[in-house]
Amino acid sequence: MNLLLIQSQEHEKLPLAELKAVMDAENIEANINQLTPGLTLLENLDLETFNHSYKRLTDRLAYTHEVHQLIETTTLENLEKSVLNIDWSEFIKNNFVVRVKRFNSDIDTVKYERNIGGYILDNTPNIKVKLVGSDSYIRVVVFEDTVFLCVEKYKLNKKHFEDSKPHKRPFFHPGGMSPKLARCMVNLSRIKEGELLLDPFCGTGGMLIEAGLIGAKLVGSDINWKMKNGSALNLDFVGIKDYKTYKIDFKQLKMLEPADVVVTDPPYGISTTTGGVSTTIILEEFLDSLEGNLKKDGLIVLATPHYIDINPIMNEKGFKILEHYEIKMHRSLTRIISVIIKI
Ligand SMILES: C[S@@+](CC[C@H](N)C(=O)[O-])C[C@H]1O[C@@H](n2cnc3c(N)ncnc32)[C@H](O)[C@@H]1O
Repeated sequence: MNLLLIQSQEHEKLPLAELKAVMDAENIEANINQLTPGLTLLENLDLETFNHSYKRLTDRLAYTHEVHQLIETTTLENLEKSVLNIDWSEFIKNNFVVRVKRFNSDIDTVKYERNIGGYILDNTPNIKVKLVGSDSYIRVVVFEDTVFLCVEKYKLNKKHFEDSKPHKRPFFHPGGMSPKLARCMVNLSRIKEGELLLDPFCGTGGMLIEAGLIGAKLVGSDINWKMKNGSALNLDFVGIKDYKTYKIDFKQLKMLEPADVVVTDPPYGISTTTGGVSTTIILEEFLDSLEGNLKKDGLIVLATPHYIDINPIMNEKGFKILEHYEIKMHRSLTRIISVIIKI
């Protein structure tokens, strides 16, 4: 079985990196074939676990817009014949809509939607077209001369990333990260459902919310009372229950059980307070504080500003950077997202 993914093109590497990380975390085996930026095929997924894998991808991914089950691959020339040969009653119960998206092609998408819809109606009894709110969404992707005929079984919750922006939560404080990037960082940690995530600089709880929504257990701590209480308020607001938050300096934190992963955005002096301590020292002390608080081989996903070179700190403290991504936030700030492990 194959899936076709329409991915975000806002970053060159993150959509694919996030996909690979979620596949690792969810034990999804497939051949990843990026056809062009924004369009990726997952080939040869296991039939028995297909639905579960498909669902988990849609539950977790942030930098992917749509995930579709591939029904058939054809060409523009053979399109009519291919559509007429498919038993659409397998994919459409009562009503459907066809939507065409093109990559590296200048076909008239509206004309193709109408034609394909017509061919489907011709060979399938008792179904209707319903443009809004249909129960089957037939997605057709035209990439150059190749046509992918797909059906969408599970939708990604793109609305969540809009609706839960930091200023729309009950507790707001400047410096919070977008839910989309926070989710991506959580995914890069390869956390699994039921595992424990620690954010020792939890602020308004952005990382905790995203990890909680995919089924992780959570510990968040912050030196500031307002953040400790505010992050709890934000977690309650989205209905997350399996969490603990503490008011504590990260240097004093002693976890009852070590976390499986740490995902965090430490303070670095622009919009969040560092108490006058340099970010380099904070990072060194942060790495020291993981001893006993993070499981052996547990991954750390860290956001840092571009003007701090974390390489010497990692070398000195015996950590290795496995992945590194640069995200331009605005003219004077590029965020670096690193996936790190203790050697
Ligand atoms: C960049 S913010 C984290 C933002 C967070 N990701 C969010 O979604 O709101 C850094 C946080 O570190 C906290 N902090 C600063 N020094 C600390 C320390 N020594 N121990 C624990 N937390 C500290 C600050 O209060 C601030 O909330």
